[in-house]
Amino acid sequence: MRGKDLLSIADLEAEDVWHLIRNAQVLKGEGASNVLAGMCLALLFEKPSLRTRLSFELAMSQLGGSSIYLSPQEVGVGSRESVADVALVLSRYVDAVVARTFRQATVDSLAHYASIPVINGLSDVEHPCQALADLLTIYEKLGQLEGVTIAFIGDGNNVASSLLLAASLVGAHFHIASPIGYAIPEGIMSQARSFAAKSHSRIEKAGDFRVAVHSADVVYTDVWISMGQEEEKEERRAAFANYQVNAHLLAQAPKGAIFMHPLPAHYGEEVTEEVARGPQSAIFDQAENRLHLQKALLMDLLANAKPGRMEKGNGSVD
Ligand code: CP
Ligand code: NVA
Repeated sequence: MRGKDLLSIADLEAEDVWHLIRNAQVLKGEGASNVLAGMCLALLFEKPSLRTRLSFELAMSQLGGSSIYLSPQEVGVGSRESVADVALVLSRYVDAVVARTFRQATVDSLAHYASIPVINGLSDVEHPCQALADLLTIYEKLGQLEGVTIAFIGDGNNVASSLLLAASLVGAHFHIASPIGYAIPEGIMSQARSFAAKSHSRIEKAGDFRVAVHSADVVYTDVWISMGQEEEKEERRAAFANYQVNAHLLAQAPKGAIFMHPLPAHYGEEVTEEVARGPQSAIFDQAENRLHLQKALLMDLLANAKPGRMEKGNGSVD
């Protein structure tokens, strides 16, 4: 993996994604190991988490390493202490960092100053670990990624952006239906279009979300109000009021289509509980796959390094 950080899906190439998916599938069938013995992962979180924290902590422990969680109330990245100093100190203590930040600039800056790998555990712009686990889930459920059509209904947010980039890398088609003013940022769209030109993925902005699901193999949605957007909740609820994945909408998709959501969900807003708990739902497979995919990722970033501090750029990834 280029650069030994995972800040954006755009840091990866298609073969990196396939390598992670294949290794995650192997790891899924294996028990615990000691491959990361003596190594420690710091989890530096400015926002709450269930899945990201738990799956990274479990991943480290199942690979023989350890982890230290630094909660939003601690550290004070950029307020109590500069981002640069936090990165330089962490680099003297631990072997890698997962950072969940309000701003993408913070995780980028941590990576700039750190001499250890930095993983984006969700920012305002991307959620790359989620997208990678989602591709693993789609591959397991549908048996392929190339040519699969993902319909994303709702906010062009961090989850949508990473999923679009990941889909366009591996040749999956991506149809997104978002209200005006809530589209995926143009910079991400343009990066995705350049990946799509190589992979033959088709990216379409659907004017009507009902049309977007007609040819979908995957119907995907996420919350209307992401962490950090709480002040916009009234206007967002108004803008997204019709953008709900319910049984009626899912019935417009082909019979074998699956429903996906990164969780946490707000039932009655972007999705009904009936759909989330229904036979087409893959939401808990997605949550489980965070663990397996991240074990593969940590092994790529760390397993070939010698215990102790790792220089970025050292160690092979294969
Ligand atoms: N999907 C996801 O990242 O969940 P958490 O916010 O609970 O980590
Ligand atoms: N878009 C959501 C995803 C949570 C996993 C958020 O940023 O809050």
